[in-house]
Amino acid sequence: MAADRSEQPLERMEDLVSLCVRRGYIFPSSEIYGGINGFWDYGPLGVELKNNLKSRWWQRVVRERDDVEGLDSSIISHPRTWEASGHVDHFSDPMVDCRACKRRFRADQLEDAGPCPSREGSAEHDFTEPRHFNLMLKTWIGASEDAAAVAYLRAETCQPIFTGFKRIREVARQKIPFGIAQIGKAFRNEINPRNFTFRSREFEQAELEYFCHPSEREKWFAHWLDERVRFHREIGIAERSLRTRPHEPDELAHYAKQAVDIEFRFPFGWQEIEGVHDRGDWDLSRHGEYAGKDLGVTDPETKEHFVPVVVETSVGIDRTCLALLCDAYAVESLEGGETRTVLRLHPALAPVSAAILPLSKKLAEPARALHRELQRRWNVFYDDAGNIGRRYRRQDEAGTPFCITYDFDSPQDDRVTVRERDSMTQERVALDAVSSYLRERVEDA
Ligand code: GAP
Repeated sequence: MAADRSEQPLERMEDLVSLCVRRGYIFPSSEIYGGINGFWDYGPLGVELKNNLKSRWWQRVVRERDDVEGLDSSIISHPRTWEASGHVDHFSDPMVDCRACKRRFRADQLEDAGPCPSREGSAEHDFTEPRHFNLMLKTWIGASEDAAAVAYLRAETCQPIFTGFKRIREVARQKIPFGIAQIGKAFRNEINPRNFTFRSREFEQAELEYFCHPSEREKWFAHWLDERVRFHREIGIAERSLRTRPHEPDELAHYAKQAVDIEFRFPFGWQEIEGVHDRGDWDLSRHGEYAGKDLGVTDPETKEHFVPVVVETSVGIDRTCLALLCDAYAVESLEGGETRTVLRLHPALAPVSAAILPLSKKLAEPARALHRELQRRWNVFYDDAGNIGRRYRRQDEAGTPFCITYDFDSPQDDRVTVRERDSMTQERVALDAVSSYLRERVEDA
């Protein structure tokens, strides 16, 4: 950033929410009916950001590794899956009801409850004793709605990895250690969805379950924690906004032997965006027991038969998108008292890689030709309406790293002006070099 400009990072979530809704990055689902609490839709810019994040994760975790296989499982599994995993018995939050206003709160988050709207003269709620509330979303399969037809929308994407472990290992001819990865939707009936998409009822996870010999669990735990922290840095999250936090023994999930959260500093405090867990042999042993199948493996050399232990990395795609947006958001004061809002997203993750902005509608034909050429490789936006300054500002706010202006000199010198979002510097680039210019700065960045 130039010395004569000052910059204000994001302090209030409302500012980001307002930008996201206004620009259609992310907005309430079923908005015309007043929204539905805990559910969000990603508009044209949001879906591109999300897809870019998912494909980078898939590239790093699956494609670049010979020891990781991919999976896309169904969202609904056999209900026994969730009995074996412990979710039917243990996946709950303590909640209380207010007898006066009838609202429900998480018993461990009562500081957020605010005053009771139904009790005049007293601001306090009239709470019941805490009760456990299972967070799995239920549905019924087939024509009847009796207990035998109950099924659950998956509360985490990893369980089908465990139930599919034997088949995938065999078809992929993998030996221990190896991993199975999946990206997909998960559903939790959160009592108190909040902080925009941070705690939603429907969200996406990208999970890797890495199966290894018990003697190697610490080595692989350290390896994957390292890889995952590196990933968050690589996608542009600032060093100061990222930290790791090991779980205290009393915080560990019922299955976990060791866990470290990767946390991001949101405007509402440090919060988990990813968990790295040593799940032990809990999942494979339980599914083996409930399904009556041997999910153990035999070492071909030592002939030892053992149940592999699992190192899991589980990242929320929505939470990471939110972290990226929070980290990228800045309001800059420019010379002359002007301000601009900019999303400094990593060029490879930005929803739009470049905007083509002809200076006049009369230049549409060659500008459109450039647009079509670049579109074959990148998401490129075309805009020929209005003042060029205003068009730049719209792209800054969308996070577009490069604006390419086709001007009145371009037909003569076969060059365009490329303006870089963060520095706002401009350079002339030959038309036939624009592709390699973008490849270097977007793909190889
Ligand atoms: N399989 C392990 C597991 O699901 P988790 O800590 O419950 O572990 C992993 O979830 C990640 O999923 C979290 O770090 C978070 O990024 C995301 N996540 C969990 N609950 C969420 C929610 N209600 N809304 C949005 N993201 C959520």
